[in-house]
Amino acid sequence: MHQFYEHKVVWITGASSGIGAALVLALAQFKLKLIISARREAELNKLKEQCSSMPAEIVVLPFDLSNIDSFESVVEQAIQKFGRIDLLFNNGGVSQRSLTKETPLQVDRKIMEVNFFANIQLSKLVLPFMLKQQYGHFIVTSSLSGKFGFYERSAYAASKHALHGFYESLFLENRTQGIRVTMLCPGSIKTSIALAALNKDGLPAAAADARLDNGMDASACAQKIMSAVAKEKKEVLIGKSELIPAYLKRFLPALFWQLMYKLKPN
Ligand SMILES: NC(=O)c1ccc[n+]([C@@H]2O[C@H](COP(=O)([O-])OP(=O)(O)OC[C@H]3O[C@@H](n4cnc5c(N)ncnc54)[C@H](OP(=O)(O)O)[C@@H]3O)[C@@H](O)[C@H]2O)c1
Repeated sequence: MHQFYEHKVVWITGASSGIGAALVLALAQFKLKLIISARREAELNKLKEQCSSMPAEIVVLPFDLSNIDSFESVVEQAIQKFGRIDLLFNNGGVSQRSLTKETPLQVDRKIMEVNFFANIQLSKLVLPFMLKQQYGHFIVTSSLSGKFGFYERSAYAASKHALHGFYESLFLENRTQGIRVTMLCPGSIKTSIALAALNKDGLPAAAADARLDNGMDASACAQKIMSAVAKEKKEVLIGKSELIPAYLKRFLPALFWQLMYKLKPN
């Protein structure tokens, strides 16, 4: 793993908290260059400070994923920092806590904008630089909700499912030119994502989620991500028993549905 990460230039979105922040802390142990992004600049600076005695060189590049018009300039700034991008962790995202029948299309669009369009547009702008380098690895934080739908997650699940189709195509088109893709499908990871999840009014639901609170620690999740990326895995499911439905859906679909009927939103 050491060899894989040393001297790489790594860009992480959604780095201000949760899985992204845990990835920063884990990656900073290596002698590499890190660009960390999210909206909350103060949180990013705190994280950088926390890593100040570690081998990695870290720069902060705050931006809003819902402002796609700014991306050309953001990508230009990111490239200028260290002259290249080897690994792009497209991790920033927003969740959902609202029933389909109560959610207006504009809220669905808001979720798609951040989780899908922003994600793919960033990759589309970075891809030409990676092709020029003849090397680049997109690491995309999808979700278990990218494998099957769930209560109160219709737009969220749709956004994560869409990422799989997009990146499988991108990979097939570019794999012979050194481009790699790893799709991450975390189950329940202990982060504050439920608090920021959008409700039917497009506002933060601001409610805790027992399922996530009992989930895997973000630091353990980061270790699993780093190992999967170093092995250039195409897809990895990360979590505990909540992953079972993903396997059931594939191999025993009737049992999958029986189990899903018994589950509740929270
Ligand atoms: N936790 C889980 O159980 C779980 C499971 C499956 C998948 N995931 C995925 O994992 C990724 C990270 O989530 P997390 O669990 O670590 O939750 P989190 O702690 O809430 O992190 C979300 C990150 O995304 C950033 N973000 C959200 N909206 C943004 C925007 N408009 N512009 C820029 N950055 C934005 C946030 O930064 P700012 O607020 O500072 O902008 C934050 O750094 C997400 O893609 C999520 O869908 C999480």
